[in-house]
Amino acid sequence: TKKVILDCDPGHDDALALLMAIASEKIDLLAVTTSAGNQVPEKTYVNAKRLLTLAKSEHIPVARGASKPLRRNLIIADDVHGESGIDGAELPESAIQDLDISANELIAKILRESEEKVTLIATGPLTNIAIFLLSHPELKEKIEMISFMGGACFGGNITPHAEFNIYVDPEAADIVVKSGVPVAMFGLDVTLKAQLFEHDIKEIREVGNDVARTMADLLDFFNLTTTRPFWADEDHVEGIHMHDPCAVAYIIDPDMFTVYPMNVQVETSESLALGSTVVDYDNVYKKEKNVLVAFNLDLAKFKKLTMDTIKYFS
Ligand code: BDR
Ligand code: CA
Repeated sequence: TKKVILDCDPGHDDALALLMAIASEKIDLLAVTTSAGNQVPEKTYVNAKRLLTLAKSEHIPVARGASKPLRRNLIIADDVHGESGIDGAELPESAIQDLDISANELIAKILRESEEKVTLIATGPLTNIAIFLLSHPELKEKIEMISFMGGACFGGNITPHAEFNIYVDPEAADIVVKSGVPVAMFGLDVTLKAQLFEHDIKEIREVGNDVARTMADLLDFFNLTTTRPFWADEDHVEGIHMHDPCAVAYIIDPDMFTVYPMNVQVETSESLALGSTVVDYDNVYKKEKNVLVAFNLDLAKFKKLTMDTIKYFS
């Protein structure tokens, strides 16, 4: 089993990512930290707590991270995730007590005290991870890997060339890819292929437990707000994109993905490509291959992992 801390901004797809991390016997989830992204930090924090309560995992410590990106104003994705950040489902109120330490301090404490290396998974903007790397460089060697959802070799979703998580805090992403720590990137190249369809949502609902019903409700909502390619029609049914679970699924079963080491840089200057990940696909720069970039996944395995996750909570 891998020791893991999940930094997330729930978020519909973050919710499934969190449940996967809780349910997998390959992961020992040590803590959850929350980032500002899909919604304001107050809301993503409450959402994480409510999801932990839903999953009967209130023993897992949860800490709030930074209120805004390192150098920019926060941009949220309420058009996709709604007013609460996880619209569409009724989640239980959470009685989890607030910790008196920040996400940064919690990550540092856990790494310092852990004998084994710890994997950091990030499914929101990389603000908290960057703050941790800057403030605790001596603990870098305790990080096994940073697996994050964000970026793209080809394309974008918040601008033509930038993916949301990286665009929200490009300076943070820049710090992460330059950190020297092993990094794996699950960008749109692979996450747009991690699709669930209406019949999958139905199958999830039919599992019949509270998590199943809640997740199906969340996915029904996400299904309405997910942007589809302009060419999708009745001959090409595009599912909903399960971006964030990819970064967790890789830690559970790396063989599910095709990844290649490549040089990745982040565009932080005010340009048309602000917030894009510049992935050197053809190795034209001959620079250090600092990131494992994911391009493909075995969708059947991904679907099975999703169903196993939901059934775990029965
Ligand atoms: C990413 O943006 C968020 O809306 C999702 O939760 C995911 O982390 C996809 O671009
Ligand atoms: Ca997210």
